[in-house]
Amino acid sequence: MPKKIILDCDPGHDDAIAMLLAHGSPEIDLLAVTTVVGNQTLEKVTRNALSVAKIAGITGVPFAAGCARPLVRQIETAPDIHGESGLDGPVLPEPELELDPRHAVDLIIDLVMSHEPGTITLVPTAGLTNIALAARKEPRIVERVKEVVLMGGGYHVGNWSAVAEFNIKIDPEAAHIVFNESWPVVMVGLDLTHQALATDEVVEQIKAVGTKPAQFVLELLEFFGETYRDAQGFDFPPVHDPCAVAYVIDPTIVTTQKVPVDIELTGTLTLGMTVADFRAPAPDDCTTSVAVDLDHKRFWDLITDALVTIGDVE
Ligand code: BDR
Ligand code: CA
Repeated sequence: MPKKIILDCDPGHDDAIAMLLAHGSPEIDLLAVTTVVGNQTLEKVTRNALSVAKIAGITGVPFAAGCARPLVRQIETAPDIHGESGLDGPVLPEPELELDPRHAVDLIIDLVMSHEPGTITLVPTAGLTNIALAARKEPRIVERVKEVVLMGGGYHVGNWSAVAEFNIKIDPEAAHIVFNESWPVVMVGLDLTHQALATDEVVEQIKAVGTKPAQFVLELLEFFGETYRDAQGFDFPPVHDPCAVAYVIDPTIVTTQKVPVDIELTGTLTLGMTVADFRAPAPDDCTTSVAVDLDHKRFWDLITDALVTIGDVE
């Protein structure tokens, strides 16, 4: 049985690749794509999501726009990494899909409440505003969601401050809600995603697919590679968001460890830090785990296979 997921994202170069991976993987049943302010404004990331749907040939999946600002903080976007559009680099097609009229938070709630408990995995690859609000608006979703597999945080490194990662730092209060609910949370953080580097070998492998969606990924990686080199000193770009989807497809690609994690909300230097307590043993009631090690080859093979499955979209 394919695993049912809702992808909550802010495309975003790596979000776009996460969408392609989810759509092209037979192990995944993509129930919905929801968007939230993050890498760029809500309007921009939503348009980007719809353009990616066109490139990937995604039809029959509801797309809904969610929160246009974080719960408490001012909007903080990432043009240095993703450009002014949020998806700079490739030429984006005019979207064809119509947005679902519902707010993303309501779509998430409707889907979780109308499916069997324990069947839907939430995969947020952006700030956690929509997910936190959904849990507050309809608390019964918390026990019905199978797990929350999120890209965000990091237990040994930050990227938006010395200790905080972008998705958590832009809405730490939302992250605090999500990490403190009783649903299982798998934190696919920078510790793991900095292993998901798009090396020259990876680029060659994707080139060999030879389709338009593969060409789109190459153009994304080219832009992302430049900004990651200039802004963050990386030789190759770390392709964060698809790591969360890859974990859902095949958890053996990612090693995880059960560890209590909480979100720093008051530190002057540490706001948005995902504070992980590695003292053993983890308490029996611990609901959080962190991603530790990635099988780099199998991860990129999944992405390549998804592109092959998607084929050449007209
Ligand atoms: C995360 O921040 C965003 O810029 C990326 O899309 C990813 O979700 C990495 O810190
Ligand atoms: Ca993202």
